[in-house]
Amino acid sequence: LSPESQNILSAYEWVTKLYHHLLRYTKDGKAGYQYFLDRGITDETIDVFQLGFAPNIKDFTAEFLKKKGFHQQILVKAGLLSMQEDNSVTDRFRGRVIFPIRNHLGKPIGFGGRTITDQEPKYLNSSESELFQKGRILYNFDQAKKHIRKQSEAVLFEGYMDVISAHQAGVKNGIATLGTSLTENQAKLLHRYVDTVIICYDADRAGLDATYKAAGALQKAGCHVKIANLREGMDPDSFIHQFGAEAFKDEVIKASHTFTSFYMQYVKKDFNLSLEADRIQYIEKVIEQLALIDSSVEREYYLKELSNEFDVSMESLNQEIQSQRENIS
Ligand code: CTP
Ligand code: MN
Ligand code: MN
Ligand code: MN
Ligand code: MN
Repeated sequence: LSPESQNILSAYEWVTKLYHHLLRYTKDGKAGYQYFLDRGITDETIDVFQLGFAPNIKDFTAEFLKKKGFHQQILVKAGLLSMQEDNSVTDRFRGRVIFPIRNHLGKPIGFGGRTITDQEPKYLNSSESELFQKGRILYNFDQAKKHIRKQSEAVLFEGYMDVISAHQAGVKNGIATLGTSLTENQAKLLHRYVDTVIICYDADRAGLDATYKAAGALQKAGCHVKIANLREGMDPDSFIHQFGAEAFKDEVIKASHTFTSFYMQYVKKDFNLSLEADRIQYIEKVIEQLALIDSSVEREYYLKELSNEFDVSMESLNQEIQSQRENIS
């Protein structure tokens, strides 16, 4: 690491402790503490994730770090302070609750900061640097990896709050990307620790599209992918809040779907199934995917579903899949 990165690392360590302390024990952090309380987050969870609050005071962090001997220029580069047009600096995360993002050794290297007053953007992240690269880091990986190994399974979430609520609900093998799509680098990192990844993204349009993309990246890296069974419109955190920890573990995580089953639903969006021509195209598209499955039992299982849903004989579906498989091999 360059001396500058060392310096930034040290600044993040100080500020993580500062924001966490303020939230937990002081009047300046009360608004942040209340925010997490209202979202059902316990003191213990706040401590595990070192959640914090950046007071809504322009130069609180700047002054604190100045006293510690840090140079302003470095702190701007680190993304802790923002440079204004008149060359004065202000605290970048002021008024936001803070999610420290730790590297795989457990050292904070960046922040996600969420507004508690509906400001835009909802989440503000540290700017990218040599030290902090969103495509190379997974939120909570430092704490989750021992659980991932033990359970031979990882759960991939979309957001910080999903990881945190799931952890509080007893699902401790959860990690998340930082608001970007899963990269090849992150998929490979995961596959070094585990073979099976359950994708548990938000059950909205964006989440479904992201699920399909992440599944592709994970499969390419050699992972076996399952898709959590989250009902439409929810995200994991809101599900846990509404239905509780046990329902989340049993009905969402344990009841995960196979990728194939997800795919058969997902690609329906590209077709108007009330039209005959589209129905046929849909069936052909699904068979293309089923032809990639090696287990004949599994292929048969999904063919039966197709056969029932569209009233097509098993015989013709089997013929079609056989010719597709011959084309592959
Ligand atoms: N995100 C971001 N910038 C935004 C919005 C989202 O970086 N303006 C990232 C954050 O990492 C966030 C994730 O994308 O956790 C998922 O976004 P979203 O589903 O909108 O947020 P939630 O995690 O559900 O957050 P909350 O429950 O606090 O609204
Ligand atoms: Mn493998
Ligand atoms: Mn979302
Ligand atoms: Mn969400
Ligand atoms: Mn949410």
